[in-house]
Amino acid sequence: MGKITGEYLTFNDVVIVPGYSRVEPSNVDITGKASKRVILPIPMLSSPMDTVTEHRMAIILARFGALGVIHRNMSIDEQVEEVWRVKKANPSLWAELPRVDSPEALEDLLLRLEELGSQAAIVFHGGAPVGVYLALGADPDYWAGKANALVTLLSSVNPAPVTDELGRLMVGAAISPFDHERAVRLEKAGADLLVVDVAHLHNENAVTALKKLSSKISVDLVAGNIGTREAALDLLSRIENIAGLRVGISSGSICSTGEVAGAAVPTLQAVLNTVEALKELGLHGKVPVIADGGIRTPGDAAKAIIAGASSVMVGRFLAGSEEAPGAKVRVGGKVYKAYRGMGSRGARERRYALDRYSKPSKAIEEGVEGLVPYTGSALVKIMEMATGLQAALGYAGASSIEEAWAKGRLARITPIGSREVSPHDVLLG
Ligand code: XMP
Repeated sequence: MGKITGEYLTFNDVVIVPGYSRVEPSNVDITGKASKRVILPIPMLSSPMDTVTEHRMAIILARFGALGVIHRNMSIDEQVEEVWRVKKANPSLWAELPRVDSPEALEDLLLRLEELGSQAAIVFHGGAPVGVYLALGADPDYWAGKANALVTLLSSVNPAPVTDELGRLMVGAAISPFDHERAVRLEKAGADLLVVDVAHLHNENAVTALKKLSSKISVDLVAGNIGTREAALDLLSRIENIAGLRVGISSGSICSTGEVAGAAVPTLQAVLNTVEALKELGLHGKVPVIADGGIRTPGDAAKAIIAGASSVMVGRFLAGSEEAPGAKVRVGGKVYKAYRGMGSRGARERRYALDRYSKPSKAIEEGVEGLVPYTGSALVKIMEMATGLQAALGYAGASSIEEAWAKGRLARITPIGSREVSPHDVLLG
């Protein structure tokens, strides 16, 4: 007979306990890791989903210090081509972005952005880049007014491109434990990180297949998704060269696994469970944990980090960006982009998704399809994550991710309290 084995915590159940801080938020170093060898100035990866990450998203993320993981809902040739496109891209932060040579020249730029076809620009002063201009826009007329504009000072974030030893942008690619040819070809094409992309890796066939696959590649391999301490212990003891763990089951904004299959390990709890296993093995910090699913804000990301994660993976957070695949759609005067789970009907209909969620034994849909508001250049979200994480870790009294692990504290809050600490009792415009 089964039994109740415990209680699982979600991001909404906890708050960050403010701690004494010696540093200003803008000096907090948020450098994290995707894997043993992939270090990220902004500890964020984009989900390998066909409405989130192809080369355009991967390029802008890597230029500014984060990492894209190319989805695998396409042929091997197509995925290899996507990796090449990132590898061939100019790694400079400023490539392709219009520039203005003084903060005062912004007014002019505002009028020219539509013509330039860009929602972002780099602001130079005295010959040095000082800020990034971002047009914020769910609204198609986003370039029309300064009210929609934001300038983020680069000095506070210090973005730096994530590059390989040849100076090319880094990129990750999603793989299946069963498709060894794909993994080998992606490594050859220059992928810096192979990310296992299955909903529940802790399965005999999948682990056995992954063990075989791991002996054929030497690039960093991230295994997942898992959610329990046992899964982490099992994987790390059976497969030698795991360079990172992708954790969280069913927390994704487009997931319906929890609903249709009743199974879930919410991402915050998955981090806590995995970190417990890593600590037992003396591997915490050595094998990075990527918190994946349900991260809506930098605050959620900071909670995952305080729980022991080294970076976060986001789908919805970036899905409304210009650089996400897919066209903009206009509904009732507002602009949106499509976002769908990789286990949704539409994604499953593209045949290469078949082995993730739709083996004959799993003929159910485990994801939904929807729309998210258009948010302009992905830079808007990259900067939001970077500055938000700095602020959140600053509250925790930490000046780095390692310090957040050592000093950071989370406290449980009641469901009623959780409502109180979000905007409430006002009509939000
Ligand atoms: P967010 O909340 O950032 O979550 O949008 C993205 C993550 O959700 C996972 N994912 C799925 N999970 N059914 C699921 O149960 C699906 O169809 C599905 N598609 C994506 C995945 O881990 C992703 O990174």
